[in-house]
Amino acid sequence: METRNNERTHTERGAGTLESERLEFAGGQGRIAVYPGSFDPVTCGHLDIIQRASRQFDTVIVAVLNNTSKNPLFSVEERRELLAEVTKDIPNVRIDSFRDLLVRFMRSQGARTIVRGIRSVTDFEYELQMASTNHQLDGEIETIFMMTNPKYSYLSSSIVKEIAKFQGSVKDLVPPVVQSALTTKFPGRPS
Ligand code: PNS
Repeated sequence: METRNNERTHTERGAGTLESERLEFAGGQGRIAVYPGSFDPVTCGHLDIIQRASRQFDTVIVAVLNNTSKNPLFSVEERRELLAEVTKDIPNVRIDSFRDLLVRFMRSQGARTIVRGIRSVTDFEYELQMASTNHQLDGEIETIFMMTNPKYSYLSSSIVKEIAKFQGSVKDLVPPVVQSALTTKFPGRPS
């Protein structure tokens, strides 16, 4: 009996075929995920998602939104440098930035999967709206959500900046290089 290719098991297809299908799906470069965000600055919560996503995809592009309408603490270049530093030991992670619609950036990279972290039900409502918008804009783009490590469920870049601004300790909240960068932005307590 003749079986269509997509009805055969992985074993029947053979390992080589499976790999070529994987590559074909993402335009020849393997499975690429984009993890977009402001990353102003990258926190331990972001890093946890990047590490976990890097185990699920062939390539993870961490994409910093270059949004001139917000008033970021760190420039896009600084945010990219910090991200590059904290991910330097993860070989399949690449740092990039974009100032376009996310779905257009995704197309330009041959990527179809957006990764986002979810900390709470409150996050979910905003994320659902964003995922649905992106899917409406490009029906081939899917968003997958990773639950934030409970250790970091309260953590955000805004919280980190607030603490650093008042010279509180952000030691366990951001990687050491980000801690130093924050100290440079918010030097010593005024007398
Ligand atoms: O870290 P953030 O600020 O929550 O990230 C938000 C981000 C960058 C993912 C989102 O604002 C975005 O994708 N902006 C690009 C513009 C866009 O494509 N908008 C349509 C989807 S809502």
